[in-house]
Amino acid sequence: MENMVNIFLFGKKYAVPANLTIMGAMEYAGYQLVRGCGCRNGFCGACATIYRIAGDRELKVCLACQTKVEDNMYIATLPFFPLVKQVYDVEKISQSEAVMMQLYPEIYACVGCNACTKACTQGLNVMQYIAYAQRGDFEACAEESFDCVMCGVCSSRCPAGISHPQVAMLARRINGKYLAPKTEHLENRVKEIKDGTFEELLEALMQKPVSEMKELYNNREIEK
Ligand code: FES
Repeated sequence: MENMVNIFLFGKKYAVPANLTIMGAMEYAGYQLVRGCGCRNGFCGACATIYRIAGDRELKVCLACQTKVEDNMYIATLPFFPLVKQVYDVEKISQSEAVMMQLYPEIYACVGCNACTKACTQGLNVMQYIAYAQRGDFEACAEESFDCVMCGVCSSRCPAGISHPQVAMLARRINGKYLAPKTEHLENRVKEIKDGTFEELLEALMQKPVSEMKELYNNREIEK
């Protein structure tokens, strides 16, 4: 008999094997995951989840694909978090801190509570990267937010209504387009791709069975 634990999905009780992730447990319980499930490996941020263990006052957040179930876990998922997403043309955008004031002025209403950092499923210093964005240090903001998976949990806890992942995305775009040093290697490689240098190779690759592709990927040569 497997070691089972009781969990509550959307308020309903289920007994599930203790070694499952929350995502696995939802499927075990019969839920078909149409939204709130993507890569299953902690990269896409689609499976943001909040939970509380019975008797514990703390409300916790996690990625459902990365977190094991616990006994008496009360779980609710956030399959989509409605962030504020401004539309802009990165080709025309200003690179000064004024752009943040125009597009995401709410970042200047940050009260410094640090709830965003405590909520981050990736352990990022979210409040710090917002501070960098406030003063127009896009490079530092891009660096500090680099591992953001845009799950939106930070924003769900923010009393100032900041859409942190979108602010960071803007900083990374400005950094990538205007501030980070250009690599000659990359430009050459893009030109090679455009010139069709790899067409034949790609064509041959696409004919291979998935298992062989995986094998090739796992043993690929990584350029220094
Ligand atoms: S499914 Fe992609 S992060 Fe969990």
